[in-house]
Amino acid sequence: MSDNGRVPRPFPDVPEPEARAGLRPRLPSPLTETADARFARRGVRLLLKRDDLIHPELVGNKWRKLAPNLAAARGRALVTFGGAYSNHLRATAAAGRLLGVPTIGVVRGDELAGRPLNRSLARCAADGMRLHFVDRSTYRSKREPEVLARLLADAGAAGAYVVPEGGSNARAVEGCTELGRELRGHADVVGVACGTGGTLAGLAAGLGAGQRALGVAVLRGGFLAREVEALQTAAFGRRRGDWEVTDRFHAGGYARVPAALEAFAEDFEQRHGLPVERLYVAKVLHALTVLTEEGAFARGTTLAAIVTGAPDPV
Ligand SMILES: Cc1ncc(COP(=O)(O)O)c(C=O)c1O
Repeated sequence: MSDNGRVPRPFPDVPEPEARAGLRPRLPSPLTETADARFARRGVRLLLKRDDLIHPELVGNKWRKLAPNLAAARGRALVTFGGAYSNHLRATAAAGRLLGVPTIGVVRGDELAGRPLNRSLARCAADGMRLHFVDRSTYRSKREPEVLARLLADAGAAGAYVVPEGGSNARAVEGCTELGRELRGHADVVGVACGTGGTLAGLAAGLGAGQRALGVAVLRGGFLAREVEALQTAAFGRRRGDWEVTDRFHAGGYARVPAALEAFAEDFEQRHGLPVERLYVAKVLHALTVLTEEGAFARGTTLAAIVTGAPDPV
């Protein structure tokens, strides 16, 4: 709340009518209870934190991570990075269109430049995002300051506000603390899928005393706990909250959806009428189900699963 008791506007530099027309997030996101025998049998409750319902185009953690960055950009163009199917690129392009902010997307793979755009990139372009394709080696090195400076100059994005790949930076982490605050007093353990770790970093910092966050890595490699710690240090100067990352449930790595996980997700959809996004949300729901069945949670525990996304319409 601001001094005059009004909720501060998330985009102070955006003319009010535009903000009202384009961006009306549903916050706090709904928290619903599911009746699932696999959990009930163990005396465990399962809640779903429906961040997928925050905004039809800025789904789930996208709103929470982008909103503080768009406010910080203060009307400057926004440049960000992603692969040819990046949800983050699409969300950024949509936010740019909704708020009248120019966006530039640096896309991995210069071989794509001469080809027709796939549906994901075509959506970005239709939302006004200018696409700049770079070779994979440059893309990999984009965190190095000289490489980044050259890349931005080539993309016509010098002076633009830079949002990293996946949208996770200190501001995004701060934005995600609100997710934790919304869950205070409601759950003992909160499960969330980890891609870059930004959502977990913020969530864990926002939870209250006695609450624990469990990050489910969707990538192989076992590096995510370090990333989460680095993001918390960038945002808060230190590690915060009670959290851990499990590397048991990536199902083979990023974008891998083996038949058993697909079957689990289809079954969950039928049981609960929840559209289950496969690359992240299916993995966290699967992790919580398996851990519950293994007896990892004491009777009387309340779990919350963050529904960070919806199945991709593209
Ligand atoms: C649907 C969905 N859930 C979870 C995540 C993971 O979020 P983070 O990268 O903050 O770990 C992503 C990645 O952006 C995502 O698209």
